Amino acid sequence: MSVDQRPEIENLLAEGRVFPPDPAFAAQANAQPDLYDEAARDPEAFWAKIARETVTWNEPFHTTLDWELPFAKWFVGGKLNMSENCVDRHVASGLGDKVAYHWVGEPGDTRTITFGDLHREVQKAANALLELGIEAGDRVAIYMPMIPELPIAMLACARIGAPHTVVFAGFSAEALSGRINDAQAKLVITADGSYRRGKAMPLKAAVDEAVAASPTIEHVLMVRRLGEAAPETTFVDGRDIWWHDLVDRQEADCPPVPLDSEHMLYLLYTSGSTAKPKGITHTTAGYLVGTSYSHKQIFDIKPDDVYWCAADIGWVTGHSYIVYGPLANGTTGVLYEGTPDSPAWDRWWQIIEEYKVSVLYCAPTAIRAFMKQGAEHPAKHDLSTLRVLGSVGEPINPEAWMWYREHIGGNRAPVVDTWWQTETGQILISPLPGVTTTKPGSATFPLPGIEADIVDGDGNSVPNGGGGYLVLKRPWPAMLRGIYGDPERYKETYWSRFPGMYFAGDGAKRDEEGYFWLLGRVDDVMNISGHRLSTTEIESALVSHPAVAEAAVVGGPDPVTGEAINAFVILRLGFDPTPELGEELRKHVATKISPIAKPKSLMFTPDLPKTRSGKIMRRLLRDIAQGRSLGDTTTLADATVVETIRENSLKSED
Ligand code: WT7
Repeated sequence: MSVDQRPEIENLLAEGRVFPPDPAFAAQANAQPDLYDEAARDPEAFWAKIARETVTWNEPFHTTLDWELPFAKWFVGGKLNMSENCVDRHVASGLGDKVAYHWVGEPGDTRTITFGDLHREVQKAANALLELGIEAGDRVAIYMPMIPELPIAMLACARIGAPHTVVFAGFSAEALSGRINDAQAKLVITADGSYRRGKAMPLKAAVDEAVAASPTIEHVLMVRRLGEAAPETTFVDGRDIWWHDLVDRQEADCPPVPLDSEHMLYLLYTSGSTAKPKGITHTTAGYLVGTSYSHKQIFDIKPDDVYWCAADIGWVTGHSYIVYGPLANGTTGVLYEGTPDSPAWDRWWQIIEEYKVSVLYCAPTAIRAFMKQGAEHPAKHDLSTLRVLGSVGEPINPEAWMWYREHIGGNRAPVVDTWWQTETGQILISPLPGVTTTKPGSATFPLPGIEADIVDGDGNSVPNGGGGYLVLKRPWPAMLRGIYGDPERYKETYWSRFPGMYFAGDGAKRDEEGYFWLLGRVDDVMNISGHRLSTTEIESALVSHPAVAEAAVVGGPDPVTGEAINAFVILRLGFDPTPELGEELRKHVATKISPIAKPKSLMFTPDLPKTRSGKIMRRLLRDIAQGRSLGDTTTLADATVVETIRENSLKSED
């Protein structure tokens, strides 16, 4: 979508409210204004200094950056272990009794996990992996709900050098097996299920189905979360192992393996503009430096903070800002199993009050859902401990930003809108609290050491006041190292649109004062509630149904989820366009990919608007889905098509 076609943008840039830092906050802030200059003078020296000061190295690195465009290596020659940096060193410095996670189960059960507990449990779990024959370099799939064993499993993998690939537990069996097969994983770590909105949600059937289609899997290691609440849980002798049977009997003694700085820490699959998700690879040292440093600066993390990132660990936000960044900083975190609306819409605010949460990091879609429910829910609770509020995952509209600041932050806590991606590994564009004057809806400026720019179609930097494509012009420590098994696709996707620059796929504008305003994707990628989905992926799920001949999917605005999925479907001969079939197709997408991918609207159409070269004109479908007047249709192969679709769509509106 061209940036200028979005009507809300001019309104955005007319936003006049500014919030300078509170002097009292600034006086105690971790971030200092001179960081920008220091980093700009010599970015490599800047990162090298942070890496030396913040990482516990087994062997020091000799070269800060080895950059052979587009392949980067950071802190070359160094050896370290991620789990040692996240756990052991805190225990060694006397923080064994400090809480690492306050875990809150959905039904109200709780667990307190100290760094000492983590130290024991991670070593036992690592020994269990070794007993199952997992070696450094072997890939382990993790398909788990938000229970403490999830970060423990990740850290256990990191301890022995086995890259993990966490698959969000809301994904389908098919999505899981696709990822396992691409990663060629030997083991799946899972649970019998979890609790959601007061109900037991079993997970094992999906694992069985996935493993049936994934021949590389040797074992399934399963945590008992539901027990008798999931009577149908299957158990395959020889393949399946209960976590408590295997892990509990291990020695809590498994020394961390010193690994190369560039050792693969994990793979995380994300949607691109084709049907096949990409395995984004992250390595050890640069990722550790990028996530821990940004976490400390952007959230102003102090030793006594209680920090809550309310994402799911299945997404990159959870990897970087629930597990690795915060644990590396020795931070106390909250981990919550359930949803914000259960048993009532004040669940989050009750948790914040109870644990005296001081930093909250969540997505605009959650904020908009809270707005819709009304300010009386947060008003019932004491939220005065909150001192920094973060937002991530999608553009935050100024209204939601203001509501967050006022009703959650008491007009006191700075709001930081943080832009980044699965690929970037760490936050790259964000205010620094105590330093940056914020504007509602703007992610403000690239962080110190980060060179972001906005360019036109020819790759030329656009002046202030202009819009274009967001690019990164210099490597950064936590950047992706590639797409698993596909270096060509890595080059093609990120580095070919503008030579020498990383193309993020986002549109952006810069205002007269140089503030960045992120405007959403410019490719065939949608962002539903902060979850990335590709139009092609959903189209191919639709076409896999026997009734569907052809499908086209476009995103449209939605007041709560940010974007909503609109599908257009051409049926095969012999199938009737009934409401029941429409519902079946929507459900089909949910089972093929995930319930989050279920189209909000589905229209049957006899044809699709195409150019003479056969390319679907999504712009016109967007106009139709949003009831807008149609733009230029002169390049259409058959101009009558849109009218036919339009008539159909008007008829199908209830
Ligand atoms: C895409 C990346 C980064 C963690 C969660 C999503 C969009 C992300 C912002 C923001 C505007 C944002 C972009 C980006 N996005 N943060 N603060 N403002 N847009 O990770 O699934 O890799 O998606 O999310 O479009 O490209 P992801």
